[in-house]
Amino acid sequence: MTFDILQSCPEWYHSIELAPGVVTPGRAPLEVWNETLRKLQLPDLHGKSVLDIGAYDGFFSFAAERLGAARVVALDHYVWSADMAAYMEEWRSSRDSGMPMPPPHLSRHWRPVELPGRRPFDAARAILESNVEPVVGDFMTMDLAALGRFDVVFFLGILYHLEEPMRALRRAATVTAPGGALFIETEAVELPGAPDAPFCEFFPGNELNDDASNWWAPNAKALEGLARAAGFADFTLLSGPPRLSSTQRLRARMRRQRLRYRAVARADAPR
Ligand SMILES: C[S@@+](CC[C@H](N)C(=O)[O-])C[C@H]1O[C@@H](n2cnc3c(N)ncnc32)[C@H](O)[C@@H]1O
Repeated sequence: MTFDILQSCPEWYHSIELAPGVVTPGRAPLEVWNETLRKLQLPDLHGKSVLDIGAYDGFFSFAAERLGAARVVALDHYVWSADMAAYMEEWRSSRDSGMPMPPPHLSRHWRPVELPGRRPFDAARAILESNVEPVVGDFMTMDLAALGRFDVVFFLGILYHLEEPMRALRRAATVTAPGGALFIETEAVELPGAPDAPFCEFFPGNELNDDASNWWAPNAKALEGLARAAGFADFTLLSGPPRLSSTQRLRARMRRQRLRYRAVARADAPR
């Protein structure tokens, strides 16, 4: 069954180990995903509730379950609503031919009733005999009261896809339980010579990674400012601007640096 699934689901974002030595062909090797997970420095998840916002194929949801979480909810709607296998095939040939491709929701592969993009998640969930609960919802418009609050919330690879990052983090604060933590992983940018100014770069087209669904990249100051303004009591940058040699610093002064940050924002503890 495992091998049939790999044939019927040709397109994977995440590399997920379905059985010893059987790994889905994600966009990066399994070690890279495991390293990202490790760098999040997650707390002990035993007995905790976890919400994975923008779960895609579920690598981080399944990992949280494996790490002992009592309840894991995998929330997504966007890529689940598109036939991502067909979309990515067209995206790759359009990139090679230099023809711009619309984002999935404006393409002919958008099929939100059928949810063809959820097939890899569903297949992995079945093979892993997982109890991760899939929830189909647009995080920016859905009823958050119905979703509830979670001890640990993953906000990985999603902030820069959202048109309104400030409102997104406010909503993320709403689903983070008192004393809970929001783990953020995001595209980031540092401006030459202005590390202390909070700043977000805006991408009107497909300037960021050739992906028209990317809108914003904050610098470290802006990410912290956004999290605090959204109501988080505490903020720690887990991986931020790289330490540079003096020559690299000189070069960095001349040009903008595109980076990837990880951070944890904590909600006030219960009183
Ligand atoms: C770059 S992928 C990141 C996947 C995964 N979290 C990771 O870090 O590997 C972005 C994910 O966010 C989801 N997403 C984007 N906008 C969303 C929204 N408004 N509500 C829920 N999910 C969303 C996409 O469908 C996609 O699965």
